[in-house]
Amino acid sequence: MELASITPEHPFSEQDFEYTTLLPSYRVDLRNARNEQLNRFLNANVVSDWSQLSWKEIGRPFEVKKLAKERRDWEKEHEQDMPVKKSWEYFNRSFHNLFMQDVPAEQERLKSSLKDSFKGFHLHDIKQGLGEMARLSLWNYVHRIEDGIWDPRGKRALFEGLDVENPRILFLGAAEGYEAMQLHAMYPGGEVVMVDYDAFCKTDRFAHFPNTYPFLGTNPQTGAPKVWYKDQMNITYLVKDIRDLDFHKEFDIVLSVGLLEHVPDEHKPAILEWHRKFVKDDGYVIMTTPRNQMKSRIYYHVMADMMNHTYRELMDIRQMGLYAYENGLDIVRHGFIKVHNGIIARAR
Ligand SMILES: C[S@@+](CC[C@H](N)C(=O)[O-])C[C@H]1O[C@@H](n2cnc3c(N)ncnc32)[C@H](O)[C@@H]1O
Repeated sequence: MELASITPEHPFSEQDFEYTTLLPSYRVDLRNARNEQLNRFLNANVVSDWSQLSWKEIGRPFEVKKLAKERRDWEKEHEQDMPVKKSWEYFNRSFHNLFMQDVPAEQERLKSSLKDSFKGFHLHDIKQGLGEMARLSLWNYVHRIEDGIWDPRGKRALFEGLDVENPRILFLGAAEGYEAMQLHAMYPGGEVVMVDYDAFCKTDRFAHFPNTYPFLGTNPQTGAPKVWYKDQMNITYLVKDIRDLDFHKEFDIVLSVGLLEHVPDEHKPAILEWHRKFVKDDGYVIMTTPRNQMKSRIYYHVMADMMNHTYRELMDIRQMGLYAYENGLDIVRHGFIKVHNGIIARAR
């Protein structure tokens, strides 16, 4: 096997397969480099015939009603609903701060300030400190310990086995771009086009995504597993409204992570059409949405001030698949991973 050299910028190589560790902000996970026993990470294909499913049988998604304080305050001050784009701008800054935290250092800081509040009997500060501690612990568990948000093993199980070569990948609503980088590592040689209308996503979320984060993918020369880094990838980031893109059906993969659940039902056909519009006839549409499960409901309740600037639903894989199926997508693979539903589909 060809071995990559270790540098401070690229701290892991093929010699580190099966290694996992907790860094201050995220987990490094090089386990299962060969992407085996995928049913451990992806609960796949729970529906056998989409044409037999009805909304009456499966119900509608759960709407998360508790909004972030920043949004409530803005709406009070401006006496109007927050515009959708602005709500994304608030969300992206807030979510980015969560990802950038040095969690153990922040835990120490909170502990010592709580101690001071207890000493001085400052009840308001104690209450606030305990709330912050609870939210930080939840973030630590969900993102850092469980790795539920990036979930590289689950995402690789979902993305496995696509029939593409040097694919052009379009990521709609790319934010920091994680999933497109994971796909690019697995199917190298092509290019990724990321699109987000919030400029902060390009300048901060993507630009500050750690270049030292190892993505497990494939060596195009040998077909063997290989570690990839952001700066080895062929990525273009466009700050643009998806509705203004002038691409045609030219992408092998069109991807979105968390778009469909952010609009009510009357707008879902438009979101699905965004995907169909840019995918080649023999290409793939890949989408994920957060799962409707008790722990996710608790997460969005406790983390409301950090996460809930936008309209948000939680759905199950049957609901997600039925939206896709009813709006012109044939589902090739579907299932759920730790906290996401996932669908691989082709335009009908
Ligand atoms: C929920 S985020 C995707 C989840 C993402 N994985 C994250 O970590 O935040 C959706 C992204 O889509 C972008 N977006 C929403 N509507 C858009 C539009 N019409 N054109 C371009 N980007 C859009 C938002 O700015 C946001 O960054």
